[in-house]
Amino acid sequence: MRAWCTTSSVGSLGASRSTNPPCEPTSVTDMSKAYPSRATITEVGLRDGLQMESQFVPTEQKLKLLHALIEAGVRRFEATSFVSPRAVPQLADAADLMRQVGRSSDVTLAVLAPNAKGIARALEARADEVIVFISASETHNLKNLNRSRARSLDDMREAADMVRGTGVHLHAAIAVAYGCPFEGEVALEEIERLASAFAELGFDGITLGDTTGMATPRLVRQRVEMLQRKLPQLPVTLHFHNTRGIGLVNVMAGLECGVTSFESSLGGIGGCPFAPGATGNICTEDMVHLLAESGVETGIDLAALCDVARDLEQLLGRALPGQVMHAGPRLRRYAADEALCAAGS
Ligand code: COA
Ligand code: ZN
Repeated sequence: MRAWCTTSSVGSLGASRSTNPPCEPTSVTDMSKAYPSRATITEVGLRDGLQMESQFVPTEQKLKLLHALIEAGVRRFEATSFVSPRAVPQLADAADLMRQVGRSSDVTLAVLAPNAKGIARALEARADEVIVFISASETHNLKNLNRSRARSLDDMREAADMVRGTGVHLHAAIAVAYGCPFEGEVALEEIERLASAFAELGFDGITLGDTTGMATPRLVRQRVEMLQRKLPQLPVTLHFHNTRGIGLVNVMAGLECGVTSFESSLGGIGGCPFAPGATGNICTEDMVHLLAESGVETGIDLAALCDVARDLEQLLGRALPGQVMHAGPRLRRYAADEALCAAGS
């Protein structure tokens, strides 16, 4: 049930890919002029979100969630991970989920895969896009993937060989791209080194992952501007966690640099089990609300999305961090008699 309803338009974004135009100068009087008119949101709640849940969410419930999100206008998903089921038991049903999910030509189902075994499983499951991942720090890579970054780069080469020519998009994600909970600062040169390797291998795009919410607007601008300047052929997607309350501020910094592709999680669930202090992703409904209020079209129906977020809250049995799902959009109105009156009290 929708308790409030200021519906934004529902539309199809298709599987559009972002490009990296150089930063436009920002107008102080009308900030919206500095923003792109459209942005693509990849919903990662089924992957980043559910991998962090202590309870296994049954495949049937995951499918219900995914289909409800498609109804709400979401067109890109990180649907699951083809990783070791011992490492991430919450996503052990990846093949079943991909077999049962309804397919549509304007919905992109991306999946994570860390190695050749995962890529073979992802291709067999007819994923539209395979995302391989590596960490910007050695310690997080060892914790997350049980191998050195040098060996992970070999895996990336193997991934490129396996995916090339299949028609499946190949994407790379760099975890802890703004700082590592074990090693601290991550040098910009390390991001450049890894991104250059992906560009050489012919990857279609790259995600900068803020695994434990260490990004700041300054670091976002620094990394995005470097990639736009040095590797303009590699579109950038931004992935933030709201661990320190500035996730959406970082989105605005990305938008101001011309980035049009962002990842977020329904209800703000999520986190990496292999990074201490990891908390939820930025919340999809909150980001859709912010983008709509900034004149950036996403094709997602906010009211319908909040309905799905409240269903997720019921499913997980706890209050979720998302705020717009509880507060309603900016122009939500109450009847005067719904509030206490201070006079005479
Ligand atoms: N899918 C399913 N099973 C896999 C697999 C995959 N992609 N990769 C490895 N396995 C299995 C192997 O077959 C082997 O099984 P067995 O013991 O029954 O023979 C077992 O896992 C160990 O294989 P190994 O190659 O030695 O892997 P590992 O123990 O060194 O772990 C990874 C490496 C990459 C598989 C594991 O660390 C992992 O899955 N990490 C994912 C982390 C993640 O998803 N993080 C969140 C995203 S940021
Ligand atoms: Zn994440």
